Parts: sequence; structure tokens; C-alpha cells
Amino acid sequence: MNYAEINAQLKALRQEHLLRFYDTLSEDEQSALLRNLEKMDLNYLRAFAERGKEVQRGRIEPIPVLRIPEIEEKKDLFAEEGLKLIREGKAAAVLLAGGMGSRLGHDGPKGTFDIGVTRPVYIFQRLIENLQETVREAGRPVHLFIMTSEANDAETRSFLHSHEFFGYNPSYVHFFTQAMAPAVDEDGKILMETKTAPVSAPNGNGGWLLSMESAALLDLVKKEGIEWLNVFSVDNVLQRICDPVFIGATALSGFASGSKVVQKTDPGERVGVMCREDGRPAVVEYYEMTDSMRTAADKDGHYLYYYGVILNYLFRVSDAVAVMHEKMPVHFAHKKIPCIDEQGRAVVPSEPNGWKFEYFIFDLLHELDGCLVYEVDRAKEFAPVKNRSGADSPESARELLLAQGIRL
Ligand code: UD1
Repeated sequence: MNYAEINAQLKALRQEHLLRFYDTLSEDEQSALLRNLEKMDLNYLRAFAERGKEVQRGRIEPIPVLRIPEIEEKKDLFAEEGLKLIREGKAAAVLLAGGMGSRLGHDGPKGTFDIGVTRPVYIFQRLIENLQETVREAGRPVHLFIMTSEANDAETRSFLHSHEFFGYNPSYVHFFTQAMAPAVDEDGKILMETKTAPVSAPNGNGGWLLSMESAALLDLVKKEGIEWLNVFSVDNVLQRICDPVFIGATALSGFASGSKVVQKTDPGERVGVMCREDGRPAVVEYYEMTDSMRTAADKDGHYLYYYGVILNYLFRVSDAVAVMHEKMPVHFAHKKIPCIDEQGRAVVPSEPNGWKFEYFIFDLLHELDGCLVYEVDRAKEFAPVKNRSGADSPESARELLLAQGIRL
């Protein structure tokens, strides 16, 4: 598109300020600006204009949970089924590593954070070591898909290459990059990062399957006969990946998905909880929960919404692919967004100054008919690294790793 076409499009959306600096730029910079504006996804603006309308949630109810004692009882059966699927090449792993990890304050992709004490132990290394347990047990490699974002793709790839994938077979590692979204100010005007580029940020962890499709990786999934994808977050350094017992239990349940959950430490813990919404599996994030939902209990005093998701999900590929083009809700996050002002001066806000747009992975779960909610022992499988200090920090994760006998 040329200047006139882009200008007309932006005017129609009341975003013509994005061309404010055009006349002051060199020819190369002008082309760069037009290219950046052309590739920007403007659909988010419609969602932003309609915000408030779509947030009405449906009827929320508790969802049955497969508890640890029941899993222990049938462990051999589940493990046998899971290992059979893995050995037949029917399960693969998807690492979500496109987030900015801003809360941790680490300069670089979160997976490159060193959690070691007496030796370097990087987060990526820990996750790969965890996956290697399954590989050893199954006696064959498992495909590992890694989602990055434009902001951290090059660094992530070069880090993993320079560490030789921590011993993982490189022909089983496949990178793909997630889509980006613009960010807007309080009035819905797209913010500029520089005079030639709008602010753009990763569009949340919910776009993983569409991004795999864009990267032609679903062709590989099909060619390899992969039926189950275990999607997991970068920040839980204790989680089991492609856990045969979880895969077997989910496959035998007949559900199209599975979600690992832990009992919360207290009703206020900052994790999303599994529930049913209008009869379908759903997650309510901690900041959406009302006090009455947080503390709702049955007649024996057991909390009804007490199983927190650890962001380790299993999706049956055929079912997930069938619904992935359904319209998913856009979530809006009020954030401090560095940008430039009308004079082109850099602004580093100390308070939230705008909105980022995100898709969430569990909105895909909600499109599916059922989900096996699968309880795991948090001491063994949940050590998230999110904050610089305190809860869910490197210190708390180190303690949990050491308690499991993992050398750091
Ligand atoms: C997430 C879950 C929350 C769960 C908690 C458990 C979501 C939306 N939230 O919260 O329900 O209880 O973990 O620890 O799933 N990511 C991307 N691209 C993005 C944004 C995020 O790949 O654009 C990845 C991150 O790299 C990370 C994961 O998604 O691996 C979680 O990201 P984050 O946004 O930090 O979620 P939490 O708030 O920690």
C-alpha cells in the first residue's frame, strides 16, 4: 500500500496520528514506517472499541477434578497408555516462550535466566532436562515446538544453539514466532515506539496454534502423526513435560483436552482456577474472581474453586484444529508502555498509560467439549519463576527444586 492508501485507512479508524512524523523522515524511514503500518493488525481496534460488551461471563460452576489418590490407583494403566502414544510418536510438546517476562526484570528471554546456585542452570535447561525424563522413559525423542516472539526470537535461538540445546536432539526442535499486536493509549490511539514504528507487543499465549499453522508446523504435526500437544509455560521449572501418566489419563478419559492443576495455597493465590462456564471447561483468572467465588464452599467446607491451573495443558490436535479459527475474546491489559509523545520525545511511564491486547490459551480450551482436570502435587510439579522476589520468584523456585533433590 502507498502513503495515500494507508492514510485513508488510518483516517477511517481515527489513527492518522501514526503518520504525524512522515514528512520529517528520510525516504528510507518513510518506507519503513509504511511497511510497519501495513503489517499492523488493526482488528484489535474493533475489539477495543467494543470492550465492556463481551466481558459478561456465562454460568460458572465447579468442574470435577481427577484427584491424586485416584491417579495413583490407576497410575500403571495411565502410564502404559501414555507411553504407548509417545512411543508411536503421537505426542509432542509446545513451549510457550513468547512472553516479555517483565515482572522478573531479567534482561533477555525468560528461559535464559540462570536459576543455578553452584553452577549455571538456565530455565531452558531445566525444562529440557524435564522433557528428557520422558524421552528416556519412552526410548525415543519427542518433538519440541518453541514459540518465541519477534522481540526475543533471535536471542532465544542463538542461546539454545550456543548451548547445543542442552543435549536435546536438534532435529526434534522447531521454532515458530507468535503474532504481535499494537498497543493503544487511554483513548484508543495506537502508541508509537519510534517515529517509524508503532508499539507492538506479543499478542498473548492464546495464538499458539494459529501461529503454528502460519509457520506451516501443523503440516509437520500431521505428517508425523502427532495426535496430542502438551502446551506448557516457560516459567515453571519443576513441571513434567509430556508426562506419560497425564497423557494416558487424558487419552483414556475420552476428553479432547487435559489441564494440570494444583490445590491453591489459599483462596487468594494468584492463579487461574478451573471451572465450567455454560457447561464447558473454562478458567477464571484470579483477578476476575469475586470474593464470593473465591470463598464458595460445599457443606463440608471444601472450597469449590480451589484448583489452580499451572499452565500445562494437553490438546487433542484434531479437536483443537477444528475450533482454532473460532473468534476468541481479546483481553485488555492496562500496562506501563514506553512510547514517544507528540513531539517525538521518549516517554517512560511510571503508571499504566495504555492497553495491550492478548489472547489467552484457555479460551481455546473453552471451545472444546471436555477437559480432564488432573491434580498434581504442587511440591513436585509447580515452581513458577515470575517475580523478582517473594512468592513465585527465583528464591522460592530454588527452594522447591532443592527439596526435590535437583542439583543447582
Ligand atoms: C499464567 C496463566 C494463569 C496460570 C499461571 C500459572 C494465562 C493467560 N495465564 O499466568 O492462568 O494460573 O500462568 O503460573 O495462561 N506467553 C507467550 N506469549 C505471550 C504472553 C505469554 O508465549 O504473548 C507465555 C509466557 O512466556 C509464559 C506463559 O505464556 O510461558 C504465561 O505467561 P504470563 O502472561 O506471564 O501468565 P501469568 O500471568 O503468569
